[in-house]
Amino acid sequence: MAIERTLSIIKPDATNRNLTGKINAKFEEAGLRIVAQKRIHLTKAQAGKFYEVHAERPFYDELCDFMASAPVVVQVLEGEGAIAKNREVMGATNPADAAPGTIRAEFAQSVGENSVHGSDAPETAAAEIAYFFSGLELVG
Ligand code: CMP
Repeated sequence: MAIERTLSIIKPDATNRNLTGKINAKFEEAGLRIVAQKRIHLTKAQAGKFYEVHAERPFYDELCDFMASAPVVVQVLEGEGAIAKNREVMGATNPADAAPGTIRAEFAQSVGENSVHGSDAPETAAAEIAYFFSGLELVG
């Protein structure tokens, strides 16, 4: 399998509860390398642009408010099949459906406050990484 990069976000519910290190440990234990990382506080407009694909969904406004409510940690994870592997480590979007041992099963509070975001495909990974990072910031 090819080495890939994927965009990960540790969301406000997790930064509020000081869970960055525990979540990063899950990534590293799964063989994902954190090749870029920064803590930022998104504006609602920046969150809205990132999630614009969901603009017509009923939860969009709530999602944007939540993502701008406290700092997030944006990061680039690298590894063999990193996009699918990260989704496996995160678990299902709704923590009620997430497999035991996954980040969302252990830490998420609800479908909205679900601790982490991960890109879902190579094209979205490339676009989402470029939204937050310049090439110079990716240090493999
Ligand atoms: P994420 O992987 O970041 O991508 C879109 C986000 O929308 C998703 O995780 C959830 O946090 C959020 N989301 C999805 N469904 C709902 C919902 N029914 N109510 C609130 N938020 C949702």
